[in-house]
Amino acid sequence: MTSQQATVRPWPLGLPLLQAIRRDPFGFVAQLRARHGDTVKLKVLSTDIYYLFRPEAARQVLVNHQDDFVKDQRVLEIMQSVHGANVITTEGAAWERQRRILAPAFAPKRIAACAALMAAAADECAGRELPAQTGASTVVDVEGLTTRITMDVILRALFSYRYGLEEAATVSGAIRALSRQLMRELFWPLRPAAWLPYPGRTEKARSLAVIHDLIRARIEARRRDMANGADAGEDILGLMLAARDEQAEAPHAALSDAEVLNNCVGLFGAGHDTSATALTWWVGLMAAHPEIAAQVRDEVRGLPDDHAAAARDIAEARLLNATIKEAMRLYPPSVATFSRRALRNVEIDGHTIVKGVLVIVPIWNLHRDERWFPEPDAFRPERFLPGAPALPRNAFMPFGVGPHFCLGQQFAMVEMALIAARLIRRHDFSLDHGTDLPAPMVDLVLKPRERLQVRFTRLA
Ligand code: HEM
Repeated sequence: MTSQQATVRPWPLGLPLLQAIRRDPFGFVAQLRARHGDTVKLKVLSTDIYYLFRPEAARQVLVNHQDDFVKDQRVLEIMQSVHGANVITTEGAAWERQRRILAPAFAPKRIAACAALMAAAADECAGRELPAQTGASTVVDVEGLTTRITMDVILRALFSYRYGLEEAATVSGAIRALSRQLMRELFWPLRPAAWLPYPGRTEKARSLAVIHDLIRARIEARRRDMANGADAGEDILGLMLAARDEQAEAPHAALSDAEVLNNCVGLFGAGHDTSATALTWWVGLMAAHPEIAAQVRDEVRGLPDDHAAAARDIAEARLLNATIKEAMRLYPPSVATFSRRALRNVEIDGHTIVKGVLVIVPIWNLHRDERWFPEPDAFRPERFLPGAPALPRNAFMPFGVGPHFCLGQQFAMVEMALIAARLIRRHDFSLDHGTDLPAPMVDLVLKPRERLQVRFTRLA
């Protein structure tokens, strides 16, 4: 099938276009598709940008023609100003080598070994922050709660480290400040030199120092322990320090000190902010749909209430997992990562994409396409239950697809299901005002624009 294509040129200068996208990214892109069809070419100054709305076209770019496209260099450079060069911010041989070295840390048996700590992090945070007496209730800032839980999980999984509460608050403040700054820089038409006093530079440096101090201290402590005869350890840092790339020759077989630091920074950020975001929307959706929440609770209460059994059983909770997928369909946490630049002329979905052109796969719009998702804005977890009509490949892809697909996908699915199960088992969620959730905004990940406040009531 050949899709329609339209070239849109209403913006002679790039800036008003960037401002229009920034003001209302989803509305802007939805209008493009409504007016111009499945393939839309925007001309901004001398640059062409393609928006691809068909899952098949997305697949051609991300999978079939993966060697003909790379992540955009400008985006990688902006990300590198925070992460350094790591598996998330590099391409080509440097990326491939780091991905090979890190992959064993996310093997199923490693994830199963993390399950108990994931459930424990949820229970400990709930024990500290949520009411303990049957019938008691409290209104919770959901994003704060889910962030503290997933940050606890990732710090335990990476470093076997337990944060202090004050430290957690400082670190999440720094993460939010860095995300805001990265978003800002992504929308600047030009990148200022690092030494220029550009807006946000001082706060960026301060926030970066908070994250680096936390992570450097963990790495240095581990190296000290190893110098005193301890082994590298079983957590992700331990695996990183001990890992050797079979395909590389010494000294490139091991990760360098800088690579260890940069990958810890990357895994720390990518590994908790995304899952916290997905869980935040999930809690909101459960509060807005109490009848579905009650069915999920019944399902979860049928599972053993013990941490050790966690990983084995949680995949069996079909409805719970379907609600998490449906939450990520409606609110895909990682909305800003689906762009690629063509390395050469290439035929995609019947159109010639010329070398150098930027291609965007608008995941929000793909996930809300009424052709595959009837009543696309409605929360219908049954779309992901066994027996539901099959979806076209890549109509749903919150974790991406192709060589760069999310390295932490399985980790995140187990983690989110375990945390969600621990929270819903003992609490009812409700919204004090109406059933509408806050509007979303792209803050690197997809955050609620206003605080999502949900009442948690303790159940027997
Ligand atoms: C709900 C949770 C998560 C979502 C929705 C998510 C989504 C994504 C997406 C969309 C990508 C990029 C795909 C692309 O550019 O084509 C990605 C990459 C990545 N994610 Fe996740 N992620 C999640 C959790 C995690 C976790 C828990 C970890 C690690 C602990 C992680 C580690 C990574 C890494 C290392 C990459 C880079 C992969 C590469 O370029 O080779 N993610 N993720």
